Amino acid sequence: MGKILVTGGAGFIGSHTCVEFLESGYEVVVLDNLSNSKEESLRRVEQITGKKVTFYKADMRDAAAMKQIFAENEIDAVVHFAGLKAVGESVEKPLEYYENNLNGTFVLLAAMREAGCKRFVFSSSATVYGMHNPVPYVEDMPTSATNPYGYTKVMIEQILHDCCNADPEFSVVALRYFNPIGAHKSGLIGEDPNGIPNNLLPYIGQVAVGKREQLSVFGNDYDTPDGTGVRDYIHVVDLAKGHVCAIEYAAGHKGFMPINLGTGNGISVLEMVEAYSKACGFPIKYRIAPRRAGDIATSYADASRAKELLGWEAHETLETMCEDSWRFMQRNPNGL
Ligand code: NAD
Ligand code: UD1
Repeated sequence: MGKILVTGGAGFIGSHTCVEFLESGYEVVVLDNLSNSKEESLRRVEQITGKKVTFYKADMRDAAAMKQIFAENEIDAVVHFAGLKAVGESVEKPLEYYENNLNGTFVLLAAMREAGCKRFVFSSSATVYGMHNPVPYVEDMPTSATNPYGYTKVMIEQILHDCCNADPEFSVVALRYFNPIGAHKSGLIGEDPNGIPNNLLPYIGQVAVGKREQLSVFGNDYDTPDGTGVRDYIHVVDLAKGHVCAIEYAAGHKGFMPINLGTGNGISVLEMVEAYSKACGFPIKYRIAPRRAGDIATSYADASRAKELLGWEAHETLETMCEDSWRFMQRNPNGL
């Protein structure tokens, strides 16, 4: 089937994606510097699949380490997750974000070119739709950003587009994720953020296990049915499966293709609180707080391109997303 290099493979989405590749018959080589993850997640990937992961603890900006990986392995394709991803931190440390995310991608692309590897799947984000496009978001809409993290995604997409123009044999799928949540059904891998969670689901999960007192709902005066923010939450296992489809699509298609991975459904913060309360069997405590700077009212995908080109669509429900997240939190209240 082939050997896939997964950068950032020890992280939340990367570890779930390794499971799906291994279960589809691929071999997996992971590069990760563990700056936001633990090697334990890869041991658990091996436990779930009964298969081996080749792991390089290295920084993607280290050109010698990158070269060594391509020399020691015949890599057929690359899935590029590695990057820094906290929006607020990116505003405080823009240079670190641009340096890590852009330089890391340059080093990776140069090593791929040298090795003649021409298949690439990139972790982009719905954040590239910016503040001014109407929902549902369609891939042809203009992209923009409101913070350095978002700009790294916009810029890397542009760079990849340019690389495809320069080399007609190069094939890139930029997957624009909506809001990945949930965890593997085994309860062995899931989201394990460092420090205070920025995102809604890990925060709710920590309230549920008693690590945080209550959730702050950021604004209830948006122009949405119940006044709270609406997002397109997608189960991380559905998302992971989309990467296997994208690698297979890229084998038969050259050029740059952005594709949304979302469900196409919008869920509000209060609907999520209710669904999670049902999954854990007691009410999640919350209070209404001021809006968070940079938030938009509503974001959800037009998910038709993924279905048309990849034959992929999301199957999990809001209920299973919450149940699977809760199972992971109960089994790993202090993370991995
Ligand atoms: P994550 O932090 O769990 O995983 C990223 C991994 O990259 C981590 O394991 C980290 O240690 C590694 N990494 C970072 N810099 C590195 C470097 N210089 N060298 C080697 N490894 C490095 O995050 P995630 O949620 O799994 O996200 C994966 C990708 O998807 C990221 O690019 C992120 O921007 C993108 N994305 C995530 C979301 C989301 O909500 N989680 C949404 C849209 C896009
Ligand atoms: C955020 C990022 C986005 C990034 C995405 C995935 C911002 C402004 N946007 O998106 O760039 O691609 O994460 O990493 O940070 N909420 C609460 N209380 C909380 C946390 C969140 O009410 O403690 C609300 C938010 O206001 C929002 C919804 O929950 O309406 C989802 O928030 P979050 O999980 O942070 O995702 P996004 O805002 O979509």
